[in-house]
Amino acid sequence: MNGDSGRMVFKSAAALGLVAVLGTALLAAVHQLTAERIEAQERRVVERQLGQILPASEYDNDLLHDTIELQDEAYFPRGQVVTAYRARRDARPVAVIFRFKAVDGYSGNIHLLAGTRYDGTLAGVRVVSHRETPGLGDAIEVEKSDWVLGFNGTSLRDPGPGGWAVKRDGGQFDQFTGATITPRAVVDAVRSALEYYRLNRERVFQQAATTPTDDTVREP
Ligand SMILES: Cc1cc2nc3c(=O)[nH]c(=O)nc-3n(C[C@H](O)[C@H](O)[C@H](O)COP(=O)(O)O)c2cc1C
Repeated sequence: MNGDSGRMVFKSAAALGLVAVLGTALLAAVHQLTAERIEAQERRVVERQLGQILPASEYDNDLLHDTIELQDEAYFPRGQVVTAYRARRDARPVAVIFRFKAVDGYSGNIHLLAGTRYDGTLAGVRVVSHRETPGLGDAIEVEKSDWVLGFNGTSLRDPGPGGWAVKRDGGQFDQFTGATITPRAVVDAVRSALEYYRLNRERVFQQAATTPTDDTVREP
């Protein structure tokens, strides 16, 4: 190789390297931007849904900032970080809304909010995001069907332990036509959250709030 062709190879290699570096940087920037957008979108969904689960008239604290983060593999599996939004009135506990995920869905995690009143009665459940199949598993969305409203007013006592399953498994919650996996995953996860609450109620309300940041609604 003479000097000229050596320089050309070097230049081409340098140009290729530059393109690779720029391409990677661009991808990283797009990824970051997309992640931020999804997070902002989810935050808006969560804020709206918190209001659907528990009307603001029922508490007088700042729900969005009276939060703790918790982990308990036995009740919230796969290392998930759960956010608990605490509602109080005159400083007395009223309800807690857990943000967590059902990990046994048909297509990945189903992000959920489940609000329980102080006595362990469910105020409501909502699906924040999921990737279940449209027309099959997506009836868990309140916009698609009223299935999720079937949790309102339930507790670990009512129905009893046998009832906390889809009908196909002997419980009281409907499955969907041709789609049992999705509702089964949601029922199991909500029951598990209630079991966690039964064992940890006082701690959930007494623990010092996490420093209020945007993290309170971040991806668990
Ligand atoms: C392409 C495809 C997508 C599916 N999506 C879902 C889904 O999102 N949720 C679900 O529960 N089942 C889904 N199913 C069905 C499950 O594989 C399974 O058959 C069903 O949940 C079991 O319910 P069944 O016993 O009532 O049929 C899907 C099946 C196929 C072939």
